[in-house]
Amino acid sequence: MTMTADPQPTFGSGGAEPYARALRREGRLQLVRSDAPDVADLAAADLDAFDVARWSRGADVADLSTILDASSVLDIGCGPARMVRAAVDRGLGALGVDVSVTAVAMAVDAGLPVVAGSVFDALPGEGTWDVALLLDGNIGIGGDPTALVARASSVVAPSGSVVVETATDPAVDVAYDAQVVDEQGRASATFPWAEVGREALGRHAAAAGLRVSQTWSVGRRTFCRLVRAS
Ligand SMILES: C[S@@+](CC[C@H](N)C(=O)[O-])C[C@H]1O[C@@H](n2cnc3c(N)ncnc32)[C@H](O)[C@@H]1O
Repeated sequence: MTMTADPQPTFGSGGAEPYARALRREGRLQLVRSDAPDVADLAAADLDAFDVARWSRGADVADLSTILDASSVLDIGCGPARMVRAAVDRGLGALGVDVSVTAVAMAVDAGLPVVAGSVFDALPGEGTWDVALLLDGNIGIGGDPTALVARASSVVAPSGSVVVETATDPAVDVAYDAQVVDEQGRASATFPWAEVGREALGRHAAAAGLRVSQTWSVGRRTFCRLVRAS
């Protein structure tokens, strides 16, 4: 199998590569709709930000709640792979997949099992994973949540599940073109993205032949488990 980085612009890639820079320096990033009035001004605005430093730290209690009962874990859009490390440390089978060359290099340098490529490429262990993760807003990958949960479901075993971290607003269900902007105003290329709350996720799950079997929150973060509907 040949794994190559996805040539399509995706989270934080292209342009001034703010995601790769932030990973190396552990900065903060903002996700902004590309139809926002002036992307350059948004770096100074008081918007919700991705704390890339959190992704480079160890998994926290909320993160760990997603793999408590797992026997093996595939982390989709794993970044520097804190969830892969957590799974490996617990003796679980684990693999991360990410299109970011920088994130994958950091994970591989740390000795973690991570492959470079898109979730939509062929992946090792297709159809055998116990739990596939879509955390940290990764339900947005590709901008088509129904297609993404269908794809994530296809990589788990028939008895497996997909754990999705949902948006804070349970009703939100939006897809849009976005850019990532760092604290210096450096913007990525435009890429398709989406945000989905827990109520809306049920509709995407149903459209993909899945159902929500469990919903839980830890602090401000909410997670849903998707399983095959029949
Ligand atoms: C919001 S960040 C989440 C970071 C990550 N969960 C972590 O712990 O660092 C989105 C991640 O998804 C990755 N990504 C975007 N499109 C992808 C795709 N099609 N397949 C796999 N990973 C993708 C990005 O490179 C980025 O690392």
